[in-house]
Amino acid sequence: MNELNDQINQIKNQFFDQLQETRTEAELFQVEKNFLGKKSGPVTQLLKKLSELPPEERPKWGQSVNELKKLLELELAQKRQNLVNTDEPQLWWDYTLDKFAVGRGHWHPISLVLKDMVNFFASMGFEVAQGPEVETEFYNFDALNIPSNHPARDVWDTFYLKTGEVLRTHTSSVQIRTLMQRTPPLRVISPGRCFRYEEVDATHLAVFNQMEGLMIDKNICLSDLKGILHKAIEFIFGNSLKTRFRPAFYPFVEPGLDLDCQCIFCGGSGCSVCKQTGWIELIPCGMVHPNVIRNCGHDPEVYRGFAFGMGFDRIVMLRYGINDMRLLYKGDLNVLSQF
Ligand code: DAH
Repeated sequence: MNELNDQINQIKNQFFDQLQETRTEAELFQVEKNFLGKKSGPVTQLLKKLSELPPEERPKWGQSVNELKKLLELELAQKRQNLVNTDEPQLWWDYTLDKFAVGRGHWHPISLVLKDMVNFFASMGFEVAQGPEVETEFYNFDALNIPSNHPARDVWDTFYLKTGEVLRTHTSSVQIRTLMQRTPPLRVISPGRCFRYEEVDATHLAVFNQMEGLMIDKNICLSDLKGILHKAIEFIFGNSLKTRFRPAFYPFVEPGLDLDCQCIFCGGSGCSVCKQTGWIELIPCGMVHPNVIRNCGHDPEVYRGFAFGMGFDRIVMLRYGINDMRLLYKGDLNVLSQF
């Protein structure tokens, strides 16, 4: 029996030595195999000896070996638990853990309105046209009937680049690019980013979105403009709102107009959003100036049409009742996840 105790102590010493060195689940598994392995593990070997012993020694032997086995199992389990609780990288997976809750992505409110608008105008036969954000003065101003000495240039607080180009101040430049490349009849919309040297506040940003519209054919008149924009507003805000035109000046249209719609917040009775007027200024527009058509190589006696340029972010704000334009660009998930 002394011999047994010696063997047991020797196994324990070796076991604890190895256990101390163990850092990973895989290593722990190896230690378990080394000592409790069914075929050649030392504990199994000791148990096998049972049959060679005289019957009176067997119970004692069996009990000691079983105690050893239990001790090793307990130590292994404890070590496994410790491994799980440490930060050390290890090969360990708990398949019973609940899966991580990963939030689903969603559209930004600007993209939502943009998709809707593109669909709406596509249903009226409009295509989407694009132009560069870094523009020449020719496309951004001159061809739009705003020569360099014209006082109206001051209206657009322009970022000039060292190359002599500008960051486009409006999407109206795409009118010129389209009209120069194509022969009417044509119907295009052009959504995109514009840039102005603005002081940023709740309703002005230095980088903002506009959506230009242009329709040129032989017999276009103001009532076409009115009908299409009225339908567009009905589509955006989901109900039929009253609209009205006011005269306005933009060098590239004649007549130039501002389209107002009945305030969607108070229904026209007057509130803080519409500054008690009952109307909201929505879409600058007009009949394309003959000079613009001529500058693009077409005969204004033959072709005419209308153009409009809506402040896109403003439409998004009105549609969703957002009172600060900066919220659209901050990327704050608390705001964005509401859409
Ligand atoms: N481009 C003008 C601006 O940014 C807006 C505008 C007015 C566009 C009249 C048009 C238009 O197409 O016809 O202030």
